[in-house]
Amino acid sequence: MANELSGKLAGQVDKSRLPRHIAIIMDGNGRWATKRGLPRTAGHKAGAETFRKIATYCKNLGVQYLTVYAFSTENWKRSETEVGAIMALLKKYLLEAIDSMEKDSIRLKFFGDMTPITPELRALARETDGITKHLDRRDFQANICLNYGGRDEILRAARRFAADCAAGIRKPEDLDEAGFSGYLDSAGIPDPELIIRPSGELRLSNFLLWQSAYSEFYCTDTLWPDFDEGEINRAVAAYQKRDRRFGGVK
Ligand code: FPP
Repeated sequence: MANELSGKLAGQVDKSRLPRHIAIIMDGNGRWATKRGLPRTAGHKAGAETFRKIATYCKNLGVQYLTVYAFSTENWKRSETEVGAIMALLKKYLLEAIDSMEKDSIRLKFFGDMTPITPELRALARETDGITKHLDRRDFQANICLNYGGRDEILRAARRFAADCAAGIRKPEDLDEAGFSGYLDSAGIPDPELIIRPSGELRLSNFLLWQSAYSEFYCTDTLWPDFDEGEINRAVAAYQKRDRRFGGVK
């Protein structure tokens, strides 16, 4: 089912020039729920369904990596009920994923500091990691950012590099960008060519700070639970019209 386009604007997407890696800030769940007189948690439930739909679409389209921001290092400031609801949705998704990853050839990886996450969720994440490791590296991979912050990721990488230097494994003067990337949660994964932010907000919110150096941004007013295949087509079509110079001239 590779390269299957559907939804609005499908004709405007050039399947031979797809971004290899798309990253999404899944924003607007709370507003979507409030607009309907529902609790914020209902927005996250709808948002989790949208994630499932969009991940399936990206996989079928032929995008190799999809990275989503599910819970930031700052999201602990939310109510216990809301944090609990997001964690419960992740658990439900992981339990389902474990059953279907092998059959659907979907790899799953977590970005973020898993230390404060419940042992139960951590164990499920380890299980999905184990499955991911023996699937083909060319299979579609979803990266879920959980207790993730771009600054925190860079700090954790710097600490690990410093520890390797102290242990005599690495030398500070030999460090280059590729070498440092290898210490990040995203080690071995290409930088996202396209970052999408729904819900009308125009900021990065501590998402993929290192990896977004030359990403193209696409923002839309659509709230994440309303996001659909046509929105992905629109974002990819916009990306394909961009003139990417990487600091050079053409
Ligand atoms: C941002 O919207 C969304 C979040 C902080 C949580 C996202 C979590 C999920 C979609 C559910 C679990 C994920 C997976 C991968 C199964 P917001 O709450 O900040 O919305 P608002 O800006 O309208 O308040």
